[in-house]
Amino acid sequence: MPAQTIVLTGASDGIGAAAARQLAGSPHRLLLVGRSVEKTRAIAEETGSDWFTADFARLDDVRALAGKIADAVGDDGIHTLANNAGGIFGDQTPTVDGFEKTMQVNHLAPFLLTNLLLPQLRKAEGAVINTSSIGHRLFGHIDVDDLDNARRFSPNKAYGDAKLANVLFAKSLHTKFHARGLSAVAFHPGTVRTNFAADSSSIMRLLYRTPLKHLMLIGADKGGATLRWFIEGTPGDTWFSGAYYDERTLTTKVNPQVNDAALAESLWQRSAELVGIPAH
Ligand SMILES: NC(=O)c1ccc[n+]([C@@H]2O[C@H](COP(=O)([O-])OP(=O)(O)OC[C@H]3O[C@@H](n4cnc5c(N)ncnc54)[C@H](OP(=O)(O)O)[C@@H]3O)[C@@H](O)[C@H]2O)c1
Repeated sequence: MPAQTIVLTGASDGIGAAAARQLAGSPHRLLLVGRSVEKTRAIAEETGSDWFTADFARLDDVRALAGKIADAVGDDGIHTLANNAGGIFGDQTPTVDGFEKTMQVNHLAPFLLTNLLLPQLRKAEGAVINTSSIGHRLFGHIDVDDLDNARRFSPNKAYGDAKLANVLFAKSLHTKFHARGLSAVAFHPGTVRTNFAADSSSIMRLLYRTPLKHLMLIGADKGGATLRWFIEGTPGDTWFSGAYYDERTLTTKVNPQVNDAALAESLWQRSAELVGIPAH
């Protein structure tokens, strides 16, 4: 495979860090994004990558990040943007931008970043890979007029909605841009032993933060290998643009809202309005 320019968020820990380590030594240029300066620098030094930090709970950080990445890639374009940063959090917390944190970190921030990097992605006829979750099917039910879940919040519902938004966003990118060369996909990485749920009051803490994790969860290397498989894959050959995968398996076991094209479009319009960009 020719050398590619790969932007990977959530690269400072867990699945993203594992994928970055596995991609180190490949001919690809890696641009790693994390929130923690110390953790991101350490992975970047270990893997010989460029690195950036941004707190996705601040949309100004995301705007600045997009500018720095655009400068760094110059005329090369971006072959792959892996929107992997995310997680499940605690109580209903508004960000400095006024949005519920789970929805902002998992969906609104990557939605903004991807849109700001669309010229670079389209130039390279690139791919957007969204790390979603089986939680989209178990807990998600989106109301575009209440993306913050102001009416009935739970950490699981907020997470399910945000991960459902990852699937709908990949579908919309496919609908809008695939005929013009861009591809997009969403996937569940497996139930992976990482730092996931560390800051959460969700019942999921039981699974991720107690000795149960040694019995029930797969290692970060396996989750990272699945992310790497999408990053290095060829759309239309390895995986299908517009689809949702359970690990590497194409599945029809999805939330029924995934097949609602009108919802996907209204989520796009609403997200664009919230982050202050023109809708396509
Ligand atoms: N683990 C699982 O079983 C599982 C299952 C389904 C889906 N997923 C998804 O997989 C992705 C990676 O999660 P993981 O399991 O690898 O968890 P993790 O070990 O907690 O890693 C999360 C990554 O996201 C970054 N991140 C978190 N909050 C951020 C913020 N406010 N701004 C910018 N970056 C932020 C973290 O950065 P810092 O470390 O620098 O703070 C870290 O790099 C997430 O999207 C998650 O929803 C995980």
